[in-house]
Amino acid sequence: MHNINDEQSLLQQAQALMSSERNALANAANLAALIYAGLDQVNWAGFYFRHGDDLVLGPFQGKLACTRIGFGHGVCGTAAASGESQRIADVDSFPGHIACDSDSRSELVVPLRHAGQVIGVLDIDAPVPDRFSAADQALIEQLAALWLEASDLSALQLFSG
Ligand code: SME
Repeated sequence: MHNINDEQSLLQQAQALMSSERNALANAANLAALIYAGLDQVNWAGFYFRHGDDLVLGPFQGKLACTRIGFGHGVCGTAAASGESQRIADVDSFPGHIACDSDSRSELVVPLRHAGQVIGVLDIDAPVPDRFSAADQALIEQLAALWLEASDLSALQLFSG
């Protein structure tokens, strides 16, 4: 498990990365890499962005993932539809969990809100049960907020379907 210094270091690195770039895709790609490399016991970290009623795979680190998830489906779709972070200690007991990577045992999904709408989610998976604490959730929510503040989201509108 990481300690408070690691968390501050992760936040500082994210701030530094995003202070010099406003492209939302570039920042999402580096943030996924930063989380994947910076947190222990994480087997997938990445973004899904909203396109109509679906979430479509964005920048990530880890094994190949499902490309499209309906709003309300799985942990990601539940976070997007409810607008609430989902911190799931045991993915096998979450009704409708979508097993992209069979190694995943616990999951944390944070919705990304812009102008009153959920525009996507930031999803972190772990190969061990109960990996994510309330403090981990707060950290990932801070990182998501940083990405939203630091990024020009118009890069995401390159895609329409
Ligand atoms: N497990 C997620 C799907 C995305 S992958 O974990 C990368 C879900 O149930 O929504």
